[in-house]
Amino acid sequence: MKRATWSSQLGFVIAAAASAVGLGNIWRFPTTAAKYGGGVFLAIYAILTATLGIALLSTEIAIGRSTRLAPSKCFGEAAGGSKRWAGVGWLGTLIPAMILPYYCVVGGWVLKYFVDSTTEFGPFLEDNLSEGAYTFLFGTAVIALILMGVRKGIEKSNKIMMPALLFLMVGIALFIVFGMDSGAGLKYFLLPSVERLSANGEFSWMMLGKCVLAAMGQMFFSLSIAMGIMITYGSYVPEDASIPRSTARIAACDTFVAVVAGVVVIAGAFASAQPEAIEKAGPGLLFDALPKVFAWMPFGRVLSFSFFALVIFAALTSAISIAETVTASFCDATGAGRVKGALVAYAWLLAGAAPCVFDVDILSWADFAVNNVLMPVCAFLTCVYVGWVRKPAWILDELGVSIPFWRRAYAFLIRYLAPALIAVIFVTQTLSGLGLMEI
Ligand code: PHE
Repeated sequence: MKRATWSSQLGFVIAAAASAVGLGNIWRFPTTAAKYGGGVFLAIYAILTATLGIALLSTEIAIGRSTRLAPSKCFGEAAGGSKRWAGVGWLGTLIPAMILPYYCVVGGWVLKYFVDSTTEFGPFLEDNLSEGAYTFLFGTAVIALILMGVRKGIEKSNKIMMPALLFLMVGIALFIVFGMDSGAGLKYFLLPSVERLSANGEFSWMMLGKCVLAAMGQMFFSLSIAMGIMITYGSYVPEDASIPRSTARIAACDTFVAVVAGVVVIAGAFASAQPEAIEKAGPGLLFDALPKVFAWMPFGRVLSFSFFALVIFAALTSAISIAETVTASFCDATGAGRVKGALVAYAWLLAGAAPCVFDVDILSWADFAVNNVLMPVCAFLTCVYVGWVRKPAWILDELGVSIPFWRRAYAFLIRYLAPALIAVIFVTQTLSGLGLMEI
């Protein structure tokens, strides 16, 4: 069967940007940036994204387009690779498969808060039954869109949700910037702070190092790198689309949303005299601190309803991309059709989500294992495979890069710089996750 493609370059950019813009932008970026010195973090993040981020993103998309295969198959013999490297493909399949169930549980939480925002916010994780029901609803919506196909399901729905998300996010940010007393919060978020990079009253290189690591870890997650997603979405990119140009737009969009989310969260928290809100990240920020921040503001109801609507769009479009990766990996590995693949992904999603609903610790454990162990290992092996086994020319030709300087720069990056940086992230994140180092 002929492989599906996006209808155009724009369709692809919107879908990939919609995948990249997710909870990472909203519940992690703002507080991480604030913690690591505001403007300093933003500058480092921007530089890393423009170099390493764009290079790795392009690499994954190019692997997808050149092989026209999902992660499960794109490293093995079917893709002109060697048998020995096929295992990386299984790692690239395991990662999205592990993320899918728990991401849908989190999607269920967001859905509950969206519904609650129309009346009164209930307590977080009230009872397993309603949590399970919301997870089920969220997961079912995701799979329904996957069943509808690449163009009619994924691309079409993303073309509605993504602009709506941008519109709501920018609208809320404008309200906070111009309608509220936001000066202190904006300064805190946007201006570089040496103080927050200091230890015992003096600037600390150690803190700056931690800031770089935090920025790098955040960037990987935010650009959906090493999740198999961009390989899968890349495998649907039309031949005449420019990958470098698309990648730059995807990264720019992802960074824009992260910064605007930062304005909403940080300036909002300061304006409503609740600066302690920015100490939080993750569910504590989204489901506890922010509802209080909005409740304090004029038009609080409208604001929190709009905000949770945009969070739903962010979560849904990211969940779609992860579900598509699982589906395509299954289909390419077994030769099954889309309907069968999507139903297998659905069964897997429900079976994996059930334990997470009953025990949040399982969710946290899966999240830790994927982010701190499996993803860095997968990213590292992908660099080695491209840089040393298949050679950089494979990707460079697919990207259409002909200028010698850029070819050399890319080869250096994929062979030495990226694997070295990924190894550092791996070691430090694992140590900090195990409580052996503070980061
Ligand atoms: N980039 C996404 C985010 O910021 C990461 C992600 C995508 C996670 C898809 C899960 C599934 O949230």
